[in-house]
Amino acid sequence: MELQFLGHACFLLTDGTYRVLTDPFLTGNPLAAVSADEAAADFIFVTHGHSDHTGDAVSIARRTGATVCCTVDLADGLFDPADVKVQAGNLGGRIPMPFGSAKFFQAIHGSGVLGCLSCGFIFELGGKKIYHAGDTALMTDMALLAEENIDVALLPIGDVFTMGPEDALRAVKMIRPKLVVPMHYNTFPPIAQDADAFAAAVREAGFQAAVLHPGESLDI
Ligand code: NI
Ligand code: MN
Repeated sequence: MELQFLGHACFLLTDGTYRVLTDPFLTGNPLAAVSADEAAADFIFVTHGHSDHTGDAVSIARRTGATVCCTVDLADGLFDPADVKVQAGNLGGRIPMPFGSAKFFQAIHGSGVLGCLSCGFIFELGGKKIYHAGDTALMTDMALLAEENIDVALLPIGDVFTMGPEDALRAVKMIRPKLVVPMHYNTFPPIAQDADAFAAAVREAGFQAAVLHPGESLDI
């Protein structure tokens, strides 16, 4: 399984057959590793309706024929009217996917769409489990993830709008993933963070961490 960071909360997960893109905020993202015109995807998972997460989802879905996967409310509010292929679920639900599965996990954050909830995702892909937290505050519910045997946790560390590095470290101790990759930092000045210092603190706590610069990828 390959995990590529494209900037902010956008990752491309591939198992050699299927390409799963998350929160494709590329246009207007000064650190985006690819343009919306170059992005490839079979499925696009969107955690909530803020523009730094919905990003180019509609244009990429229209160009590639990819299916947008999100909560039912985000589908109703944003993606069904956009006339793209949509597969919806809701918090706590796991949907079977051709590549494995995706489970909607709660997040504590606004949604950008009236009456909608923000979420994270737990992907099963290529024999691995990847938790994409979306935008979220620290929450004790993350302790539930310890039983999920998460291989990779993608966690926001930018602070101001989501967890900062200290709370993200507390999240790591609850989730107990095999590897931590920070996200949602440095895109804009208010969320500037020292990701290497965060990674050092994660390692100090006994966990593995990898800082990916936009465009870099990891074989998991
Ligand atoms: Ni947000
Ligand atoms: Mn955000």
